[in-house]
Amino acid sequence: MLPKESFDTALVTGASTGIGAVYADRFAARGHPLVLVARNREKLEALAERLSREHRVKVDVLPADLASPEQRSKVERRLREDESIGVLVNNAGSSVPGGLADVALDDIESMIQLNVVAPTRLIGAVLPGLLARRRGSIVNIASALAIAPELSAGAYAATKSYLLTYTLTLHKELRDSGIQVQAVLPGITRTAIWEHAGKDIGSFPEHMIMEVDEMVDAALAGYDMGELVTIPSLPDGDEWRRYDEARRRLAPELSRSRAADRYKSDIPEDA
Ligand SMILES: NC(=O)c1ccc[n+]([C@@H]2O[C@H](COP(=O)([O-])OP(=O)(O)OC[C@H]3O[C@@H](n4cnc5c(N)ncnc54)[C@H](OP(=O)(O)O)[C@@H]3O)[C@@H](O)[C@H]2O)c1
Repeated sequence: MLPKESFDTALVTGASTGIGAVYADRFAARGHPLVLVARNREKLEALAERLSREHRVKVDVLPADLASPEQRSKVERRLREDESIGVLVNNAGSSVPGGLADVALDDIESMIQLNVVAPTRLIGAVLPGLLARRRGSIVNIASALAIAPELSAGAYAATKSYLLTYTLTLHKELRDSGIQVQAVLPGITRTAIWEHAGKDIGSFPEHMIMEVDEMVDAALAGYDMGELVTIPSLPDGDEWRRYDEARRRLAPELSRSRAADRYKSDIPEDA
């Protein structure tokens, strides 16, 4: 099924390998021209050559280090000025090995630049155009760790929680705008990210590891269904809805004029 923006250009970050490269392939197969962003120019050019040959779409490469404000600004400029762009996939991301006490702060900051600041700024750059055209979509690749921080160490899960919360707020603010928003929460997916993070993916049981094509195809099925949050491996989609409803049920209790009784020392225990 072709989505409504089939002729809009899709800008995919982190497109040189892994999840981003598969997104680029799938959007090209759907007929979208592409702009591919990552640091490795050679890999981007090789992918661009293959995709334009196989799918007969225009593919531009825009090499940039998205953790660098200076290099990121050329991607922001492209998103602001290129009116053909209707799809933004914020996929580039990294994880640094180690716990909060033993990781170099500069490495954490650089991860936050890439996982948090970059998607925030790229969305900010593309939104005015999408709103003016009343169409488009934004896909944010978060992680299952956004809702399961106990399963990981370091600041990575927190960066992904940011992206999930940001997506929920974006969805609320864009209601009736014609712009689709999706957060994808992959579990362990077989890509090079594990190697870069100094972790052996082979240390996880096979039944927990998803192949990258399967992950992206499931995420795109969720995209076609108009899902706001897609968890590719979750067998029962109602589990997420129940989780989300429980969170929403707390909302009326989260801001009141009185502190809860359990925080008041002057209330007798048997009152
Ligand atoms: N694999 C998993 O198990 C898993 C699970 C949950 C979520 N995710 C998320 O999925 C996304 C994609 O990860 P992946 O597994 O496909 O990882 P990957 O194979 O390591 O690919 C990461 C991509 O991001 C690019 N990138 C890294 N640092 C960059 C920078 N500073 N500036 C621009 N581009 C940069 C890389 O290209 P260059 O090196 O050429 O720059 C590459 O194209 C990430 O956001 C990750 O957090 C992955």
